[in-house]
Amino acid sequence: MASDFQAPKGTFDVLPPESNMRARMYVAAAEHLGRAGYGRIETPVFEDTDLFARGVGGSTDIVRKEMFTFTDQGERSLTLRPEGTAGVARAYLEHGMQKLAQPVKLWYWGPFFRHERPQAGRFRQFHQLGAEAVGSDSPLVDAEIIVLLNDLLHALAVPALTLKLGSLGSPEARRSYRVELQSYLKRNEGELAKGVLERIDENPLRAFDAKDEGTRAVMANAPTMLDRLEGEDAEHFDELRSLLDRAGVHYELDPTLVRGLDYYSRTVFSFECERLGAQSEVAGGGRYDGLIELLGGPQTPGVGFACGIERVLLALGEHGGETPVQVFVAAPEAQRELALGLVLELRRAGIAADLDLAGRGFKGQMKQADRSGADITVILDEDGAGTARDMETGDQRPVDLETLAEDLG
Ligand code: HAM
Repeated sequence: MASDFQAPKGTFDVLPPESNMRARMYVAAAEHLGRAGYGRIETPVFEDTDLFARGVGGSTDIVRKEMFTFTDQGERSLTLRPEGTAGVARAYLEHGMQKLAQPVKLWYWGPFFRHERPQAGRFRQFHQLGAEAVGSDSPLVDAEIIVLLNDLLHALAVPALTLKLGSLGSPEARRSYRVELQSYLKRNEGELAKGVLERIDENPLRAFDAKDEGTRAVMANAPTMLDRLEGEDAEHFDELRSLLDRAGVHYELDPTLVRGLDYYSRTVFSFECERLGAQSEVAGGGRYDGLIELLGGPQTPGVGFACGIERVLLALGEHGGETPVQVFVAAPEAQRELALGLVLELRRAGIAADLDLAGRGFKGQMKQADRSGADITVILDEDGAGTARDMETGDQRPVDLETLAEDLG
């Protein structure tokens, strides 16, 4: 029955059975990341607007047009977090984590908010699983982060994945590359889309993201940062590539990989799933060696990833099975209290058990038992004696209700 209200545009309710699937993913991620020494962090769902303006970058789409920003009663400008890295970096500084053994390895799971045009795989409230390793610039950490994400996505059985890998170099290298790219773009001004032209000075790299034919043709011959990597940047990237090779993780080099956040330096990567259509990126991340300094801290390198939970679910194409019921207890009206007592006892013994709570007759209860997927139905008679029915074979045997949990466990 429709009510006067619906979930706001771009948001959704998480219902069973999909909620079960999400819970299983959470447990798998916690185990997987825990084994690699990542501890869980929770940061607030809203932060100072300036944290994102500075951290994510004023020229990004996220900051320019996608933030849910509001002023609170104390006239502070706050923003629902559009991503997790800036908040983790803030928390790292706020809690003096530079005094801990480095790198500090943290992971998170939670809702994020971007005012984007909703479409398949793109929402205004979505969920990310993320991991950040802060405090080391070693390519070992880049490799660890990428392999962790790769193995987790494979453990979750996400199909048809491609890992794309690139490097943006250090800020200095990027600055001179930027100048080179800007002059290349200006030489080809006539072919570029208006939006690209407007941002040549501010963010020329985003031209690689453009969808229009003209710009794409120009960008096909544009110089790339990968061609211009040198010195320590080139060594860092080569080392990462050989570590990935040793770990047996396949990747495609993508010299034009630009990500929609300004804090990246050196390594960038994304996992794409070809089954997903336009929003094909399941997860992405990279190195952000300048972010913490940008937030007022000491120069501190970091690398991390975030994975879109809804995109994983879409790629899996299944929304995760019913809540499993092992034992259903069917009872006539007079024995309902006994039935409830048995169900509670079974649950305490670790057995998933259920009963009818809608006053159904015997036939209705057996239908319900069937629908629940129970392996066994315990049928109580008018005198409170029990019979266990194997739902697959139909075999029946009397059971002692005093020792039911032991018998069925
Ligand atoms: P991002 O690429 O902006 O990176 O987002 C990460 C993932 O979140 C995407 O690959 C996608 O799966 C999912 N995602 C993003 N926007 C939406 C949306 N509107 N609806 C559904 N899913 C979405 C970051 O957020 C960085 N903080 C990642 C990172 C961590 N880099 C370093 N550490």
